Amino acid sequence: MASDFSQYQRLLDQPIQVKVDALRRGSRPRHVLFAHQFDRRYLERVGRTAEEIRILSRASASANDVRDLLSHKRAMLYFTQTSTRTFLSFLAACQLLGLSTAEIRDPSISSEYKGESRLDSIRMFSSYSDLIIMRDASPQFAECCAYLMDDIERASQRSVPIINGGSGADEHPTQALLDVFTIQRSFGLHGPLDTDAADRFQALRDRFGVEPGLENKTYTFVGDIGRGRTVRSLCILLSNYSGITCRFVSPPREHLQLDPWLRAFLKDKGVEVSEHDSLDEVIEDSDVVYMTRIQREHDTSATSQPTTDELGACQLTEELVQRMPAGAIIMHPFPRNEEIPTSIDHDERVMYFHQARNGMWIRAALIANVCDVDRDVSEIFESYTGDRKAYAQVH
Ligand code: NCD
Repeated sequence: MASDFSQYQRLLDQPIQVKVDALRRGSRPRHVLFAHQFDRRYLERVGRTAEEIRILSRASASANDVRDLLSHKRAMLYFTQTSTRTFLSFLAACQLLGLSTAEIRDPSISSEYKGESRLDSIRMFSSYSDLIIMRDASPQFAECCAYLMDDIERASQRSVPIINGGSGADEHPTQALLDVFTIQRSFGLHGPLDTDAADRFQALRDRFGVEPGLENKTYTFVGDIGRGRTVRSLCILLSNYSGITCRFVSPPREHLQLDPWLRAFLKDKGVEVSEHDSLDEVIEDSDVVYMTRIQREHDTSATSQPTTDELGACQLTEELVQRMPAGAIIMHPFPRNEEIPTSIDHDERVMYFHQARNGMWIRAALIANVCDVDRDVSEIFESYTGDRKAYAQVH
């Protein structure tokens, strides 16, 4: 495994901006590895495509047209780390666009068991597929796979895009995309073709004067801030917007608290940052409460454990939910443990089940963009709605 990484060490050590520039092919990413790859324009573009796919999927004729777009392509889902939502939503996203799929979830029953290097395995997958979507416990493995694909491309051989579905405790760029899409939909994405749920949110926003959009909002991240890759990736995306305040609530243990790199990055981007050890202090002053579980799988015998009281101060309760602003929302990437009681699941402000479903639309939109068919999605959308401009204006 070490050798897999060492051959790309020079590329791995480059500054993030150099990497991001190298990943761009025109206005599209060749590979999707980091949240840093998505600027505000890209987020709006992919959000619009996701909206179009969502609406087109409601009727069989329009859904069939979308499904024709990539029906000649195949995707490989290489998910060697546990996954439910990310795996299933990528699978559903492929199905929406007509891609056939193959999957490996347990490398012990592939040739890796016979000593095949993982980079050789990935290269083999690229022989059978047009896109590789992967989740792996090693933080830089997806990145190394992308560099391998670039080497192969330079040698004029078959090479395919890599999409990172979660890399170690490091990054989860597509979760951040679905989180932003959920926030966009909760705070402002609303049009004549939208659903009853959106009408309800609109009424809430009108009643409580919630400003549309992601800007000028307070985001409260709660739980395992130090090791949660979803928090890191979402914060990177939020830093694209102005007037953002990020509050981080975690038990007072170094490994659970905001890492210095992220603190410095956010401050540098003009984000207001504050850190707390109790949700009680900030609940009334939050537009978005983003809960996360404590990632116990990263514990070692030396990990200093928070006390029950310290953990309790980072859990949502019915009483805390009652004190939240009426127009605020509650998010969670899931799986949840004890940090959110099921008794609040029916509260109108709860978005975690919407997040899961939004993951399917936004991942389909991302694949459409990477595979250069997002303009075709828009054309199909126009041909069915005929009212694209009026629809766009309302947004
Ligand atoms: C998260 C992950 O895998 O990072 N889940 C997800 O992708 N929806 C969060 C977690 O595992 O806690």
